[in-house]
Amino acid sequence: MIVLVTGATGTVGSRLVRRLLDEGHKVRALTRDPSRAHLPAGAEVVAGDLTDVSTLAAAFDGVAAAHLINFGGDYRPLPNGPRIAEAAVRAGVGRVTLLGGWQEGTLEPAVRESGLEWTHLKPGEFMGNTLHDWAARLRAEGVIREPYGDRRSAPVHEADIAAVAAVALTEDGHAGRTYTITGPEVLTPRDKIRVLAEATGRDLRFEELTPEQTRRQWAEEGRPPEMLLFKVFGDDPEVGPREMVEFLLRVYGGDHEAGRTVTGVVEKVTGRPGLTFGQWAAEHAAAFRP
Ligand SMILES: NC(=O)c1ccc[n+]([C@@H]2O[C@H](COP(=O)([O-])OP(=O)(O)OC[C@H]3O[C@@H](n4cnc5c(N)ncnc54)[C@H](OP(=O)(O)O)[C@@H]3O)[C@@H](O)[C@H]2O)c1
Repeated sequence: MIVLVTGATGTVGSRLVRRLLDEGHKVRALTRDPSRAHLPAGAEVVAGDLTDVSTLAAAFDGVAAAHLINFGGDYRPLPNGPRIAEAAVRAGVGRVTLLGGWQEGTLEPAVRESGLEWTHLKPGEFMGNTLHDWAARLRAEGVIREPYGDRRSAPVHEADIAAVAAVALTEDGHAGRTYTITGPEVLTPRDKIRVLAEATGRDLRFEELTPEQTRRQWAEEGRPPEMLLFKVFGDDPEVGPREMVEFLLRVYGGDHEAGRTVTGVVEKVTGRPGLTFGQWAAEHAAAFRP
C-alpha cells in the first residue's frame, strides 16, 4: 500500500514520512520543489502543488491513504478544497488524514462530504513554535519579554501529531473522528523558559511586560517579528499592524480552555503517553544556545 504524505518537508510531514518508512510502508512524498527537498532515500519524491490540482494526478495515482494539509504556501487555508477531494476520490484513495489549523478552510468540509474515510487532526499549539518565536532571541539575549507569563497551554510535540497520523492512516477504527491533539502537560511561558534553561544549561529568563509595555516594544520593533501567528495573519491587507497587535494581545491574554486542556488523544490512539516539553527541549537544545 502506498501512503501519500503532503507537507512532507514540513515539521509534521517530515516526521510522518520517516515514521511510515520505519514501519515498512511505501511512502510517496509531495513537495513543490524536489530539488530543495531533503527527503529520506526510501521515499518516492513527487512534485506537486496543492493549489493547482492539475499537478496532483501523479501524486494520488495508486495511493491507498493520503495525509493532507489544509494550507498553502502562505499558511492560509487552501482555496480549492473541493477540487483536491474530488481528485483523491477519482484516483481511488480510500483513507485520508487532514491536518488542520486555527482556521477551517475549504478542504475540511470537502473531505467530510467526499465519501473518503477521513480523520481530522486538530493539533493545539506546537512545541516547535518555540523555535519560530523564541530561539533567535534566546540565542542572542537569553531573555524573552512578553505579556501574560502565566497563560496556560498544552503544547504538543510534532512527532506525536505524526504518530497519531500514522496510526489513523494505516489502522482501522479512526474514520469519521476529529482528534484534538495536545501534549501531556499544561505549561506557562515561564515553565517553558525553565525547561529550556535546564535543557541548555543556560541562564534563561522570562520578563513579563504589561500590555502597554508590549504595545510600545512591538511598535519600536515595527511588528512582532518572530511570532508564527504574525506570519499567518500579519501580511493580510485586511489586518493592519494595530489590529494585529491587539489580536495577539487577546490571544496571549485569552487563556482559552481548549488550548489548555490535555486531551489524552496521543495516548488513546498510539498507546503511549505524549512526549513532554522536556523531551522536545532536550532534542532541540542546540537551537537555543549561541
Ligand atoms: N504551529 C502551530 O501551533 C499549529 C497549531 C495548530 C495547527 N497548526 C497547523 O499545522 C500545519 C503546519 O504544519 P507544519 O508545521 O508541518 O508545516 P511546515 O513545517 O511549515 O511546512 C509547510 C509544508 O507545507 C508544504 N506546502 C506549503 N504550501 C504548499 C502547496 N501549495 N502545495 C504543496 N505543499 C505545500 C511545504 O512543502 P514544500 O515547501 O516542500 O512544497 C511544507 O512541507 C498548518 O495547517 C497549521 O495551521 C499549527
